[in-house]
Amino acid sequence: MVTPCFPSFLLLLSISKMVYSTSPDWPEVCEGIKMRKDWGGRIPVAVDYAIVPVKYVIVHHTVTPECETESSCAITIRGIQDFHMDTLEFHDVGYNFLVGGDGNIYEGASWHKVGAHTRGYNSRSMGLAFIGNFSSKKPSVKQLEAAKKFLNCAVELGELDRNYTLFGARQVSATASPGNQLFSEIKTWKHFTESP
Ligand SMILES: *[C@@H]1O[C@H](CO)[C@@H](O)[C@H](O)[C@H]1NC(C)=O
Ligand SMILES: *[C@@H]1O[C@H](CO)[C@@H](O)[C@H](O)[C@H]1NC(C)=O
Repeated sequence: MVTPCFPSFLLLLSISKMVYSTSPDWPEVCEGIKMRKDWGGRIPVAVDYAIVPVKYVIVHHTVTPECETESSCAITIRGIQDFHMDTLEFHDVGYNFLVGGDGNIYEGASWHKVGAHTRGYNSRSMGLAFIGNFSSKKPSVKQLEAAKKFLNCAVELGELDRNYTLFGARQVSATASPGNQLFSEIKTWKHFTESP
């Protein structure tokens, strides 16, 4: 039994140690996620823990050039992280995860962490950013499929509520993100909601 005063972040830490460092049970659908060390990410200045499972996924685009290889995606993500940490003074890259045009998922602020992507929603949602500008073009099938697979992984890990809802950043904040074309794409996804 967990005593009532046991801090929930310690509980999360011990659970995450069990699940993520031993990882014989790592679901197949989660394989291949590129971690912070893989893209050369900086260590966060501070970390805030979110209560999981979160109920919302908020989709963004990064409005950077697209990337087609792991090395170019890594350079782009390091640039986003530098901008978020050094200019915007976030504790880390703001998104929880990013989706590369190379079909890889990249760890950002990561699992059960409070990102900095959508004011008012950060502690209750996972911010998922597509690398590129999707105002006038859609992401490739490869990039879209990677994102869908990742969402299934997040459910399998218990990070995301099975009955989660998904929406675009523009529905809850003053931004064009995730761009007109990506927004019309996610409107067709099963978990999309018009009214977040
Ligand atoms: C994103 O794409 C749109 C449409 O092509 C363009 O008007 C806009 O300037 C682009 N944004 C940036 C920051 O490049
Ligand atoms: C799932 O979410 C929808 C919409 O938020 C809600 O109407 C429904 O009752 C939920 N179902 C479960 C099993 O929680």
